[in-house]
Amino acid sequence: MQKKTVETRVTIYSFEELEISFQSLINKAKEQVNKAYAPYSGFHVGAAIELENGEIFTGSNQENSAYPSGLCAERVAMFYANAQFPDVPVKTIAIAAFTKDKFLPNPITPCGSCRQVLLETEIRYKKNITILLYGTEEVYHIENVKQLLPLCFEKSSLEI
Ligand code: THU
Repeated sequence: MQKKTVETRVTIYSFEELEISFQSLINKAKEQVNKAYAPYSGFHVGAAIELENGEIFTGSNQENSAYPSGLCAERVAMFYANAQFPDVPVKTIAIAAFTKDKFLPNPITPCGSCRQVLLETEIRYKKNITILLYGTEEVYHIENVKQLLPLCFEKSSLEI
């Protein structure tokens, strides 16, 4: 028998400690919570994506009375970006969540389906995507999507 330990590396910053370009992308994610359509959960999520060419795309969660038909902010933003610039790698994604009249003190992390979609993009462009998860008290900086989804199923899994 063998045991394998999987680690996720997260660096925790205060907002003020972050480089300006990261602060700016987080601010765009924060602005985006105002555009969420979340009448069912009251949980407003914003995402902002920077591409290698400097283009920025934003998204917010879009809910539906048929609950599973809705989509998270991360996937709204990611599919939007990839659809507009299919040949340009994604550099960074910032995510912020707002509920009960305030931004959360500690970051939320993307759901499993969003991790899978973010991972596909990272593999597709062979380029690490930096993930910034905003909370008012702490911001998580994660080097790439693989950190969030180890032991994953990916394109190469189909080719064996
Ligand atoms: N949601 C996101 O948009 N992103 C996340 O990372 C977590 C959850 C949305 C989905 C749903 O509209 C609401 O938040 C509550 O789950």
